[in-house]
Amino acid sequence: MEIGASKPDSDTWPIQVNLGVRSYPIYVAPGILSSVGRLVRESLPHANKCVIVTSPPINELYGEALMKSLIGAGIDAKPVMAPDGEDAKTWDFAGNILGDFLDHGIDRGSFIVALGGGAIGDLAGFVSSIYLRGVNHVQVPTTLLAQVDSSIGGKTAVNHRRGKNLIGTFHQPSLVVSDTNMMKTLPPEELRSGLGEVVKYGVISDLGLFKRLEEKGETILEADPNVLTYFVRKCAAIKAKFVEEDEKDTKDIRAALNYGHTVGHALEILAKFKLRHGEAVAFGMNVAAKLSQRLGFMESMDLERQRGLLEQFGLGVETPPIDVKSLLEAMYKDKKSKEGSIRFVIPTGLGCRPTIRKVSDHLISQTLEEEIGEKA
Ligand SMILES: NC(=O)c1ccc[n+]([C@@H]2O[C@H](COP(=O)([O-])OP(=O)(O)OC[C@H]3O[C@@H](n4cnc5c(N)ncnc54)[C@H](O)[C@@H]3O)[C@@H](O)[C@H]2O)c1
Ligand SMILES: [Zn+2]
Repeated sequence: MEIGASKPDSDTWPIQVNLGVRSYPIYVAPGILSSVGRLVRESLPHANKCVIVTSPPINELYGEALMKSLIGAGIDAKPVMAPDGEDAKTWDFAGNILGDFLDHGIDRGSFIVALGGGAIGDLAGFVSSIYLRGVNHVQVPTTLLAQVDSSIGGKTAVNHRRGKNLIGTFHQPSLVVSDTNMMKTLPPEELRSGLGEVVKYGVISDLGLFKRLEEKGETILEADPNVLTYFVRKCAAIKAKFVEEDEKDTKDIRAALNYGHTVGHALEILAKFKLRHGEAVAFGMNVAAKLSQRLGFMESMDLERQRGLLEQFGLGVETPPIDVKSLLEAMYKDKKSKEGSIRFVIPTGLGCRPTIRKVSDHLISQTLEEEIGEKA
């Protein structure tokens, strides 16, 4: 399908995540929020009661339309508020929400709806996985990052004071509904951050997607829902494939989705999460691509193409003043680093499956110095 030519009936053409009994559809279309009730009825025909987990600013924008759709489909729905953004992902707050579920008489036949970005999605997924040993949940992602990434694949989490996402479960949603009209209200910096992940999918899996991003360039930042529908669908389909092949992230397949994240996470930690995720990941992708070139996998031309594309979206342009030693230490502390060595997702070209390699501290330090030096 051409960009901008999204079919009016595209909500009837979902992307499927094939996981046997845990399979589910992902619907992506402008304006599909008003169909959530009907789509839930198709996936969960016997469910007639739910709680919507959201935050005040998102509720203000989309809560009423979602409630209307659910009630219109004969589903009793009650909203519960979580703090906005990352503050929602705490153990204490998860406990409060579980109490709200009990207050509202949520039983095993009921379900939970996550209305929000990745933070709300992770929290709502987590509480639904432990409440009464697990109830169904529906993801209605409202940020680009959540639509292309976090709402799909069943990873749920809250944070611990010793690190991000340390407490969590695998709990696949029953369906995902992504309304690309919502991108119109998303702050531009959040849209840019999500585009970092979109570039990631192009590099690790789909040269065609990468080229489309290059063609569209900065015009993507205008948040045209039809254009974004194309990109969200593409990314959702790619994520679905990785998840299908390695649902529990044990085979070094799903790990490819962490391209740029080894350095990205460390940078986020050092910047005390003042840096947006996509910005940190973009820096991490540039470092990983440079490592790849040094290891003899990636051509310097491809490395420059990736850098150029990220820069069009204002990503990977600046790096906060951080020293290489602290960055390396932060990488070791990150839960994804096995003892004694750091494992990197190394791209093998544009649109090709990456390889996972242990890389020596010396080579990482050298490459980081170079990357930071170039920006200084
Ligand atoms: N589970 C996974 O597989 C997975 C993958 C990637 C990231 N994550 C998690 O996702 C989280 C980040 O998610 P995020 O980037 O979506 O950020 P977020 O959920 O913190 O939302 C960012 C901000 O955008 C606002 N917002 C959301 N939708 C909006 C809309 N349509 N219009 C206006 N404002 C809107 C929110 O109110 C919030 O202030 C992190 O906690 C990360 O760990 C999880
Ligand atoms: Zn990410």
